[in-house]
Amino acid sequence: MQQYRTHTCGELTKEDKNKKVILSGWVNSRRDHGGLIFVDLRDRYGLTQITFDPKVKKESWEMAENLRNEFVIRIEGKVILRPDDMINSKLKTGEIEVEVENIEILSESKTPPFEVEEIEGVDKAKDVKEDLRLEYRYLDIRRKKMRENIKMRHKIIKFIRDYLDKENFWEVETPSLTKSTPEGARDFVVPSRLHQGKFYSLPQSPQQYKQLLMVGGIEKYFQIARCFRDEDQRGNRQLEFTQLDLEMSFVNQDEILNLMEKMMINLVEKLSDKKIMSKPFPRLNYDDVMKKYGIDKPDLRYGLEIEDISEIVKGCGFGVFADAIKKDGVVRAICAKKAAKFSRTDIDKLTEHAKEFGARGLAYIIIKENELQSPIVKFLGDDLSQKIVEKMKGEPGDIIFFGAGSEKIVREVLGQIRIELAKKLDLIDNNKLAFAFIINWPLFEEEFEDSHFAPAHHMFTMPHEDDYSLLDKEPQKVRSYQHDLVLNGNEVGGGSIRIHKRDIQEKIFDLIGFSEEKKKSFEHMLKAFEYGPPPHGGMAMGLDRFIMILCDEPDIREVIAFPKSGDGKDLTMGAPSEIEKEQLDELGIKIKKI
Ligand code: AMO
Ligand code: AMP
Repeated sequence: MQQYRTHTCGELTKEDKNKKVILSGWVNSRRDHGGLIFVDLRDRYGLTQITFDPKVKKESWEMAENLRNEFVIRIEGKVILRPDDMINSKLKTGEIEVEVENIEILSESKTPPFEVEEIEGVDKAKDVKEDLRLEYRYLDIRRKKMRENIKMRHKIIKFIRDYLDKENFWEVETPSLTKSTPEGARDFVVPSRLHQGKFYSLPQSPQQYKQLLMVGGIEKYFQIARCFRDEDQRGNRQLEFTQLDLEMSFVNQDEILNLMEKMMINLVEKLSDKKIMSKPFPRLNYDDVMKKYGIDKPDLRYGLEIEDISEIVKGCGFGVFADAIKKDGVVRAICAKKAAKFSRTDIDKLTEHAKEFGARGLAYIIIKENELQSPIVKFLGDDLSQKIVEKMKGEPGDIIFFGAGSEKIVREVLGQIRIELAKKLDLIDNNKLAFAFIINWPLFEEEFEDSHFAPAHHMFTMPHEDDYSLLDKEPQKVRSYQHDLVLNGNEVGGGSIRIHKRDIQEKIFDLIGFSEEKKKSFEHMLKAFEYGPPPHGGMAMGLDRFIMILCDEPDIREVIAFPKSGDGKDLTMGAPSEIEKEQLDELGIKIKKI
């Protein structure tokens, strides 16, 4: 068989002058210039300009006239230097071109439904409907940005594998056909043919298996693991996604965080130009974070911290504030620097936004050189208003925004207003990476149903040793050994020290409200804990989310080769799809139309 290439389209330079070369690739673009035909030939490695001159070989030049974008060709030719005024300094191959002698068309292409042609700095995909990109994903992947994202993903996963190998971790694969491993979403189920009427579940994470590997004495495990969760999709959620999952025995929480922190710093510094804002990563208490940022995954690239002013406004003349505090609520505020340029409409929009999250309004004070402009100063009085401005470190040109009401609503509303303000004031710097660990979480979520509690992380998380005694009396006050890793306002990782004692695990099952039958379905874990389980803990990173941030993408679909669409479809393959009646019969399944 013939040889397809001696070089790639990304490597020839003036050092290769006069070399006879063979290149293969896609026609990126073709230009006819008074007898000469120029083609940009593209492969995974780059672009090389090739030229067809009737004086060099007429048949080849004639064939070049029929070339269309995305045709695949093989050419033989000679490397020549471009004239000075034709040099493209942006391309590595920009000083040369290949004068074609022979050409062969390897395959033809219909006109693609959208342009994949590479032009420096222009992302044409922005204007293309996403469903079309997903249907023709193989064309979409030809685009430079997608190719770079896929390459970055490979580099990150390779880095992680090498790094953890050096740290003595073993990669162990765990089953995909398994029993429910709940992480708070619905399971995907797979019917069994051999055991009709029974189902496997696809794992929401390898949580139970990795704990069993610790009981098995593996000590340091990791896996690039596919997880399946049947939940509503959003920009940062997919039905199936990939975790870097890891677990260690005989470690405390600090040691887990130290390992993750060191690996992340090394990874980012090797593979990305972005700047990590603080090293070591801040380790913040859940309660403090909720007060200061109103959300458990704060974006720490900017300030706009929330301050509590309940003490100052207690009993004040503004009914909304005074009432909130009387009802055991809070009054908190954000000082938005240089926001006084906001128009009336800007403020109205922010107020609407606050209302969407349950606020009744969004009081504010605009600080001018000589006065405070605000609908509430007349109720607060000048002295108190001034006191608030001082507490908030307000200066002329700033606006102070207020939230009054229950702790829960004020957190949520000001948390969202903070994010909105950062966008409006252009405070978000995509070249920065603000990592932080959130620790000291409550074991259970604030809200619970039927006097039962829902775990804040998952039911295998160890309660804090200082809070054991509260488990019976005030479970909602028990802290846990959960840790989340947040990055630029995203939860990119979560984990914990685990329960490894049967009695504590059973207690948690009771508090969650498990029936005896449900408890039985986790008997394998309880049983394993009777055979010398080591103390253990770990965490999992959402790789898609992490890669999305490193690649500056707004959606995890952009860093997954074949993602599901917004409504959960694989548009490339056409899944989910109906299956043959014979297949259903074999499985003992009858479809009930609802
Ligand atoms: P958790 O459920 O917090 O923990 O998941 C870990 C991380 O996985 C990412 N993630 C997702 N990414 C994309 N699409 C989704 N639908 C999705 N759901 C979660 C997030 C999240 O931080 N077994 C535990 C880990 C442990 O305790 O060790 C677990 O799965 O970035
Ligand atoms: P009102 O007296 O209801 O007209 O409200 C006066 C100002 O307070 C308006 O700017 C409202 O948007 C704002 N406001 C009303 N309720 C709240 C609340 N719970 N928290 C913060 N601001 C509020």
